[in-house]
Amino acid sequence: MSTQRAQFGTRLGVIATTVGSAVGLGNIWRFPYEAGAHGGGAFLLIYIGFIFLIGVPVICAEFIMGRGTRRNIFGAFWTLHSCRCWSWVGYMGILASILILSFYSVVAGWTLEYLWQSITGTLDANSGTNNLHAAFDTFAAGPRSVMWTLIFLAVNAVILLRGVRGGIEKASNVLMPVLFVILIIFCINSLTLPQASEGLQFLFKPDFSKVDSSTLIGALGQAFFSLSLGLGTLMTYSSYFSDSTPLIKSAVTTASLDTIVAILAGIIIFPAVFTYGCEPAAGPKLVFEVLPAIFHQMPGGAIWAILFFFLLFLASLTSTISMSEICIAFFCEQTKMSRRRATLINTAIAMGFGTLCALSFGSLSDFTIAGLSVFNLFDYLSSNILLPLGGMLISIFVGWIVDRNLIRNQLGGSGRIPRPLLTGITFCLRYLAPTAILLIFLSGLDII
Ligand code: PFF
Repeated sequence: MSTQRAQFGTRLGVIATTVGSAVGLGNIWRFPYEAGAHGGGAFLLIYIGFIFLIGVPVICAEFIMGRGTRRNIFGAFWTLHSCRCWSWVGYMGILASILILSFYSVVAGWTLEYLWQSITGTLDANSGTNNLHAAFDTFAAGPRSVMWTLIFLAVNAVILLRGVRGGIEKASNVLMPVLFVILIIFCINSLTLPQASEGLQFLFKPDFSKVDSSTLIGALGQAFFSLSLGLGTLMTYSSYFSDSTPLIKSAVTTASLDTIVAILAGIIIFPAVFTYGCEPAAGPKLVFEVLPAIFHQMPGGAIWAILFFFLLFLASLTSTISMSEICIAFFCEQTKMSRRRATLINTAIAMGFGTLCALSFGSLSDFTIAGLSVFNLFDYLSSNILLPLGGMLISIFVGWIVDRNLIRNQLGGSGRIPRPLLTGITFCLRYLAPTAILLIFLSGLDII
């Protein structure tokens, strides 16, 4: 175990960075449209079930491996088991992190364009002519979308180059509380809208007739995506935790705060959707097409728009910092590459793939694989397949293979972990999480 490895300095730093990784476009951009597409309340309920029954134990598993070995995902598997076959879970995580960084940066780039348009007044002018739909399509298909993707990735790289403690921790400590405050202000605003109760009913009243296997896969994928789980992000971050960081408490806090932000985003968006007669199942464009129209009709709308897109940008940045860290830690520790070079390589790959994702709304829109554009393919492959699969393998590994003493010591920290709690987590990791994920996969393939 390396003693020179960087560590997060404070407990607030630990929470701010893990929550900063979890909270992002997944909560504010992806959750509302997934919930909208799958009927609202029932999706939310299933999603919350997955977060706490599968998500929290798998977070604990990642934390145990990360802090227990103080290595990146690849090295963690290698340290804990001599069979190199497990390292493939590490490669899978690195692949997922690159796929996600690529399409995620496109959406983060959209937030920068909309922030820019809000500042210059173009967004409001477009809303006035009621052609937001066309305006979004024209923008997403054009070169500016690529430009913003590249700018976003460059900003991400600059923060990463400043190192673990100096860059990530400082940025997160400042950015996360700002994010919460702006979200709460938006919620209060949305609750005063005329059709707020219809929006809240849609979000909170479950209609189980709308549940099918795609709802289950969607909710599972969303849970893993939103928690940054199954690809080694939390494993890498926990490798920087101090020995006294309480792992279970941090896992529950991360999951709870992440879920609260998703629900807040729902409370912000659905009352507005119903008030202004928009379509809840509008898909990935939901936030970008619906909200500007809402801002236009709100008093002080331009300011709200600037605040909102700034918030989305901040949230994206703390998430992309964390997903890049998987790849960077891998290069630095497995190949002894400098942090600077590793960051540049990671950024260059993401810039290449990110450009393809951005172009899939324009000149590459006809290029599909299995009926999916490059953007949708990267999203589906990573969120709905690689992350749950990674989570399943990580839970099997920790549940069945890792030494029980390591689990007990890591979860217990300086004190002793209560026996029922240890048994509960072990049960989830050994049986519940792997079986549930497998069944959901099989149901998605129409095998059961
Ligand atoms: N959890 C992030 C979000 O909800 O926006 C997305 C994410 C970050 C996924 C980091 C994966 C990851 F490694």
